[in-house]
Amino acid sequence: MAEHVCPVWMGYLLANPLRRLVQNPDTILAPYIREGMTCLDAGCAMGFFSLPMARLTGPSGTVVCVDFQQKMLDALKRRAGRAGLLDRITTRCCTRESLCLDGLQDTVDFALTMAVIHEVPDPAFFFTELWETLKPGGRLLAAEPAYHIRRARFAEEVDLARNAGFTVLEYPAVAKSHAVLLEKQA
Ligand SMILES: C[S@@+](CC[C@H](N)C(=O)[O-])C[C@H]1O[C@@H](n2cnc3c(N)ncnc32)[C@H](O)[C@@H]1O
Repeated sequence: MAEHVCPVWMGYLLANPLRRLVQNPDTILAPYIREGMTCLDAGCAMGFFSLPMARLTGPSGTVVCVDFQQKMLDALKRRAGRAGLLDRITTRCCTRESLCLDGLQDTVDFALTMAVIHEVPDPAFFFTELWETLKPGGRLLAAEPAYHIRRARFAEEVDLARNAGFTVLEYPAVAKSHAVLLEKQA
């Protein structure tokens, strides 16, 4: 079971705009998000990726931001308010054991989980919940920090995603990360 979780003070560092110099959310996400989509950011922290997702989905889109730390979500909402994006963002405070995605089955076009899987107690169940939430044909970009997670462990995580029903589409290049693009096949 994963014991480490990202502390709230680290959430502020992760949301620092300087991070864009290494990981530009627009470049990373633009290939997968279209206007009007419903997106999910699983383990969103303070929304470094959620806010750019909300800009990419446009006013007719929605981004569901899920984290088990309410203080991360509170900061995300403050940041979204300042950016004028609150109307297209919803937050859900989940538990460590479940993303608590009740009512969202088969509704999400695109999901992201960035630097989260290694903190989740049961990654197999985490992937199952994400699979159930995606529409048929929906995609999940899953990435892990390369400085922290060995390639072999990431390969094990990808196997868990396959076991949950996902098909591997590709391994996109994401700076300082291992990344995989997964699909819930139609
Ligand atoms: C390292 S941070 C990454 C945050 C964000 N994805 C980013 O890249 O900026 C990991 C986040 O995942 C959340 N997290 C960890 N375990 C989780 C779980 N079981 N369910 C939901 N969120 C979780 C943590 O609270 C933290 O906000």
